[in-house]
Amino acid sequence: MSVHTHAKRISVPQLMAYKGQKKIAALTAYSAPFARLLDEALDMILVGDSTAMVGYGLPDTLSITPEQMAAHAAAVVRSTQHVCVIVDMPFGSYQQSPQQAFASAAAMLAASGADGVKLEGGAVLAETTRFLVERGIPVLAHVGLMPQYVNTMGGFKAQGMNDESAERIVRDAIAHEEAGAFGVVLEGVAEALGRRITETVSIPTIGIGASPACDGQILVTEDILGLSGDRIPKFARRFADAGAVIREAVGAYASEVRAGTFPAEEHCFGVKKR
Ligand code: KIV
Repeated sequence: MSVHTHAKRISVPQLMAYKGQKKIAALTAYSAPFARLLDEALDMILVGDSTAMVGYGLPDTLSITPEQMAAHAAAVVRSTQHVCVIVDMPFGSYQQSPQQAFASAAAMLAASGADGVKLEGGAVLAETTRFLVERGIPVLAHVGLMPQYVNTMGGFKAQGMNDESAERIVRDAIAHEEAGAFGVVLEGVAEALGRRITETVSIPTIGIGASPACDGQILVTEDILGLSGDRIPKFARRFADAGAVIREAVGAYASEVRAGTFPAEEHCFGVKKR
């Protein structure tokens, strides 16, 4: 019997019904403490493979493994009750064939209890989206700037900046819509293109540097909380400086340890009352 419960969660069909009705508010989370903090306010959490860079300090997302992603996603599912949880399929686990993608995605959902998967890729991956959706796996597509294509793109660069590439990205989004994706992440594309795709497809668009016209927005949580160092992407905004709060708390702890004022009597076991 499954230990996961979907009863009170926002479901994938509910997210789809938000289109034109209500904006989707989404962020990334990779761990239990963050998932608990994010659960109430959001509609969707993405367990992004960005954890490779944000959580593991790697230069790109390419080397995170399915086992690592499943462990992060399981922690997020266990620590939430309200949000829809979507997990990124890591590089190399789905591009080879629809069959490979199904085996990887099914294993990911079984191990984590997540509600669906996200795949990066243009129209060439639409057949895979169809294969998964027809077999019961909800798919969130991801087009535009696709971090798993960092080597072919020559860096993390905004996409769709000329007519030819903009038209291709429109075709990519439509191909995944027609294949049954429940939504599409549009990353790092020109404002007008984000707006146009949102008006063209019948599924929700979730933007990250893609226009306020998108049906929802997603960012990396650490970027909005001041936990990503000094540099954050152009499309992010720091909504709080949690880094400063943490540094201050850690400094206070270290000072008290060095001064011998922490731990105090109330933190000790077996102290005889005088
Ligand atoms: O990996 C990730 O976090 C993403 C984003 C859309 C933020 O793909």
